[in-house]
Amino acid sequence: MVTGAAGLLGQKHCEALAEAGATVYACDLSSKAATSVANGLGPHHVGVALDVTDDESVLDLRSRLMDEHGGVDILVNNAAMNDMVEHHGPGSESSKFENYPVGLFRQVMDVNVTGVFLMSQIIGSIMADAGKGSIINIASTYGVVAPDQRLYLSPSGEQTFFKSVAYPTSKGAVIMMTKFIATYWGHRGIRANCLSPGGVENGQNEHFIKKYSDRTPLGRMAGSADYKGSLVFLASDASRYMTGQNLIVDGGWTSW
Ligand SMILES: NC(=O)c1ccc[n+]([C@@H]2O[C@H](COP(=O)([O-])OP(=O)(O)OC[C@H]3O[C@@H](n4cnc5c(N)ncnc54)[C@H](O)[C@@H]3O)[C@@H](O)[C@H]2O)c1
Repeated sequence: MVTGAAGLLGQKHCEALAEAGATVYACDLSSKAATSVANGLGPHHVGVALDVTDDESVLDLRSRLMDEHGGVDILVNNAAMNDMVEHHGPGSESSKFENYPVGLFRQVMDVNVTGVFLMSQIIGSIMADAGKGSIINIASTYGVVAPDQRLYLSPSGEQTFFKSVAYPTSKGAVIMMTKFIATYWGHRGIRANCLSPGGVENGQNEHFIKKYSDRTPLGRMAGSADYKGSLVFLASDASRYMTGQNLIVDGGWTSW
């Protein structure tokens, strides 16, 4: 089961699991988008409308999953709100810490943290009852280190965007929640780990891509397919003695 399945990385997580032999439940806010991802994987995959912040929506999914499949082996908590430089125009005043709206802060926490809590509680309980399962929470390098706001300076030196306070705070919480779940459910056969990606190239301006690449030991931003191997590793028995950890896959970004 993959949340945020219709997004940039969610689609690749679904692909990776399907290629490794899983039957994928691709879940996202829009039923149409989720179904389109599932159909693209092949005939036996399922697209489902899901709001990870809504316990009724998650409970409906749990019932459906039990009826149709009788259980779940892998849960990828990938859905998130992420303020990205490419979605903001010049002069993004509200991204400044001093101006950041509390309503938006709460919304990001709701999706990125409460969503992982609800999915892990309600879907993870199926795994606890079955005595096996792998929960993979998608965190971020920004859950480990603070954003380097200098990255978002324009060529003229103007700060056109600040990576928000909400996103790194939420991802730090996800890393800690993962350790909680791993220790709480370890004796029930559940493993819980984070996968922390670095920045993915996705239509950002050339100046930003160069700055990000120069700041990365491997010299480039990630491609959206760069996390497929790590995801399958965490999902499968290849990582069977690993739990409570944060696998950082960032081209070396956090090594400097
Ligand atoms: N793209 C990057 O550079 C990058 C870097 C590090 C970490 N990440 C993390 O990877 C994950 C995926 O990122 P992405 O770039 O694919 O994001 P994205 O914005 O492309 O996709 C996120 C998906 O989550 C869905 N979603 C949002 N709220 C939801 C809700 N309440 N219920 C269900 N689905 C919901 C959206 O509809 C969307 O399809 C996120 O956890 C993100 O924080 C991304």
